[in-house]
Amino acid sequence: MDQVEDLNGRREAFAQLFQSGRPVLSLAPMQDITDWPFWRLMARHGGADLYFTEFFRVTPDYVPEKSILRSIVENPTGRPAVAQIIGNDLVAMARVAQALEKHPVAAIDLNLGCPAPVVYRKCAGGGLLRDLPRVDELLGVLRGAVRGAFTVKTRIGFESPAEFDALLEVFARHRLDLLTVHGRTVTEKYGPRVHLDRIAQAVRTLPFPVQANGNVSSAASAMETLEKTGAAGLMIGRGAIRNPWVFSQIRNRLEGREARLPTGREVLGYIAELYEAVCTPGVAEKAQVQKMKKYMNFLGEGLEESEHFLHAIRRCDSRGEFFAICSRHLEHDRPMPLEAATVNRG
Ligand SMILES: Cc1cc2nc3c(=O)[nH]c(=O)nc-3n(C[C@H](O)[C@H](O)[C@H](O)COP(=O)(O)O)c2cc1C
Repeated sequence: MDQVEDLNGRREAFAQLFQSGRPVLSLAPMQDITDWPFWRLMARHGGADLYFTEFFRVTPDYVPEKSILRSIVENPTGRPAVAQIIGNDLVAMARVAQALEKHPVAAIDLNLGCPAPVVYRKCAGGGLLRDLPRVDELLGVLRGAVRGAFTVKTRIGFESPAEFDALLEVFARHRLDLLTVHGRTVTEKYGPRVHLDRIAQAVRTLPFPVQANGNVSSAASAMETLEKTGAAGLMIGRGAIRNPWVFSQIRNRLEGREARLPTGREVLGYIAELYEAVCTPGVAEKAQVQKMKKYMNFLGEGLEESEHFLHAIRRCDSRGEFFAICSRHLEHDRPMPLEAATVNRG
């Protein structure tokens, strides 16, 4: 089979994923979190239908990092992988997209949402949302360069949700295979409100599938998001770090079964697995504990007495201390919803 035929087939397979009659559940791209070991761990707990890589940060002489490529080449999930790129150099973006398509990717995804000032000040990620002619140009170039499925992940504007109307007109001009809408503006960062009405507007307006993203962290919030938006899929980020069972819980609810909550002891088991999965052999214990704190910042938000837990975790240095704190909070059999307290789904 030649490469063009193969990429046409992949595009067709990607389209079919969204025609299965059940919402597609995706693991969100999260830099320095959703690497190969994390994907494998998610897959072991039920897992997503579709996995997005951390972003490949494209500059003129960029060569894709081996560490991110590993997720695609040695994909441990058994499910399709989407390669995400971020940048604004038209030639380099097209070159890297085509290079990534030589690997087993289900789609190439463009990041139009990163709110980090170091990225958006260079007019990449969320920064591009201040320059719609440039977005239009970049979409045109990438749609021309990508032979398989081409997808976009966007926020709803830079400053104001009202910017979304014009942005949708730009998206509608290109034959995207999927648009993921994170229902916040760039300046709202990770604020409590998710504008579900804007995601619903994208679903109503666009001729291709739309996936909803933002604060989905349980079967109940998944059902609410699907009802209010009509989206063809859900993308889950921080909720999956806190609760790797969230994908199975949502699937169960969609099929009319109970969405069972894990017990404290099961969450403790997950933290132990996470420690083993994401920590590199040979690295000093203190550095491994430091790395775990990054995950605990998210996981801790879903625990009872969240502030006490996080206060203690941020001050510990050794593996022993780390697991003693986790055991103090989780050595029990009560069901754990694992949801962050501050959520407003508007
Ligand atoms: C630590 C972290 C890293 C992230 N890295 C990326 C990234 O590389 N690419 C991207 O498109 N979004 C990235 N995001 C945004 C998430 O993909 C997602 O849009 C956001 O967290 C909202 O979804 P959630 O409420 O389910 O977490 C990141 C978010 C977090 C918290």
